[in-house]
Amino acid sequence: MKAAAALRATGIDVVDFGPGEPDFPTPAFVKHAAIDAIESDLTKYTDASGTPELREAIAAQYRAEWDAPYTAAEVVVTAGGKQALHTACLALFEEGDDVLVPVPYWVSFPEMVTLAGARSVFVPIPAGAGFRLSAADVARAATPATRGLIVNTPNNPTGAVMEPSEIEAVVRLAASRGWTVLFDECYDRFVFEGRHFSAAALAREFPETILLAGTLSKTYAMTGWRVGFALGPKALIDLMGRVVGHATSNVCSITQQAALAALTRPDEARPAVEGMLAEYARRREFLIPALNALPGVTCTAPGGAFYAFPDVSAHYGRKIGGHAVTGSQSFAKALLETVAVAVTPGLAFGEDRCVRISFATSRARIEEGVARLARALAL
Ligand SMILES: Cc1ncc(COP(=O)(O)O)c(C=O)c1O
Repeated sequence: MKAAAALRATGIDVVDFGPGEPDFPTPAFVKHAAIDAIESDLTKYTDASGTPELREAIAAQYRAEWDAPYTAAEVVVTAGGKQALHTACLALFEEGDDVLVPVPYWVSFPEMVTLAGARSVFVPIPAGAGFRLSAADVARAATPATRGLIVNTPNNPTGAVMEPSEIEAVVRLAASRGWTVLFDECYDRFVFEGRHFSAAALAREFPETILLAGTLSKTYAMTGWRVGFALGPKALIDLMGRVVGHATSNVCSITQQAALAALTRPDEARPAVEGMLAEYARRREFLIPALNALPGVTCTAPGGAFYAFPDVSAHYGRKIGGHAVTGSQSFAKALLETVAVAVTPGLAFGEDRCVRISFATSRARIEEGVARLARALAL
């Protein structure tokens, strides 16, 4: 995306399909809660694992929605979902361990596994499965050194939403082998088809197997505030709290007050979140058929999140605007240089046949971007 920014700096109107964050502002009531926190001098250290009120609010939400057995003691507040996942990897894995990472993966997963000293073992998802992971895929990839698995549903970059039955089958498999499954549910509020099923619903039966990571970044358009969380077995959460305590201490005290408002004022939060979901749904309704209508492009409809992940490999081996295209990186470069459209190469996510198109941008920009793609691909 550096190349897109550089092009924009020269005055060129780039259609940016790159963003991994909502294009909406943080809801006003959340912003006002932060302003109140400053005015009330809530500006000191908090407990490193988060304020008791915020930990309880997070636990209460999972109890109410999924009948999960969590209390505040089973929650750690982190600097985004990212720190929750990274800290979980540090707490769980070490040299000699294998961690199963389904492909396509969010770019940070293999890096987090590496930072913990462990090894990523990639789990291919068979063609035709719409990028939906199954327990059979996981079982096929397992190694004797496997200690854990990272599952992201709804998924970045594919938008795929796992079937509840497969989530349960994965958890049963993991429990039988003594693995921990890190569930990254950062896009849980953005599901277009069906309803998100949280592994939290299985935590009563499999408390030791499941670690949930969530975030307020996407749900409440709060990416810059840096607040997320993990829920899991108390011993693991305690250990993660110690890592957080020594690494960064608490998430910003003001951010935590804003997060508390977002989670405990449903009458204001619900319309804000539903409004964003409805807008993503409208964009998706336009974008997916429009992508499939382009020559040499096939795109499975994403069940959730705000990404499309079309297969563009039919264009590999040809030239676009004079640029030789051999894979997702040269395809993305050719689009940027020919029609000033920025997409993210699938290679970054371990799937070179595809590119990621974020629809966290306005309908007008999406229409303009698709029109430019049509021009480029017809060249
Ligand atoms: C799949 C996935 N997990 C986790 C995150 C982390 O988000 P944050 O740290 O902002 O909560 C992201 C952000 O893009 C993501 O796409």
